[in-house]
Amino acid sequence: MKAGTIQQKNIVLVGFMASGKTFASKEIALRLGRQRVSTDEMIEKREGRPIARIFSESGEPYFRAIEKDVVREVAAQTGLVIDCGGGVAANDENFKALRSSGISFYLEATPESVYRRTKGKTDRPLLNVADPLQKIKELLAQRDPHYRKAHFIVDSNEDNIGKVVDEILSILQSLSA
Ligand code: S3P
Repeated sequence: MKAGTIQQKNIVLVGFMASGKTFASKEIALRLGRQRVSTDEMIEKREGRPIARIFSESGEPYFRAIEKDVVREVAAQTGLVIDCGGGVAANDENFKALRSSGISFYLEATPESVYRRTKGKTDRPLLNVADPLQKIKELLAQRDPHYRKAHFIVDSNEDNIGKVVDEILSILQSLSA
């Protein structure tokens, strides 16, 4: 692929909650001098309230409808690094639009890694349940086949997300070579 072509493509990071998408997207944007967007941050800005409150006050279907609008908006742009909320790629229509807008990476993490990183935190409404590890296992089992449709899969189980960043950058470099 030509370098010019790659630059126009979005770099799309998908995967489960706490798989390192936010850190990696910030770092990749910085290193490549690209603009970064986060679907969660766009939703919070649009709504003027945090995600946990959107879920508790208006419910998950309301959140997913805004998420879908935001995805449509970012998929129509070019050259971005897109940090996708964990549920984005679990919706086929969303992921189709994002995949065709660029190069997608699945940051793959086991339920145990996700649990280790999210334990004791309360900002992810879907995990505020009696048995979060069980919930992570169930959700990940449903979503993994969707995430796997990404162009590339990167292991994100080590807590050093810098390695994930390096791997993604080297894949991008090989594509533009
Ligand atoms: C969600 C993941 C969250 C956020 C919301 C729902 C999900 O984003 O969009 O809490 O359904 O997995 P992160 O993946 O950035 O935590």
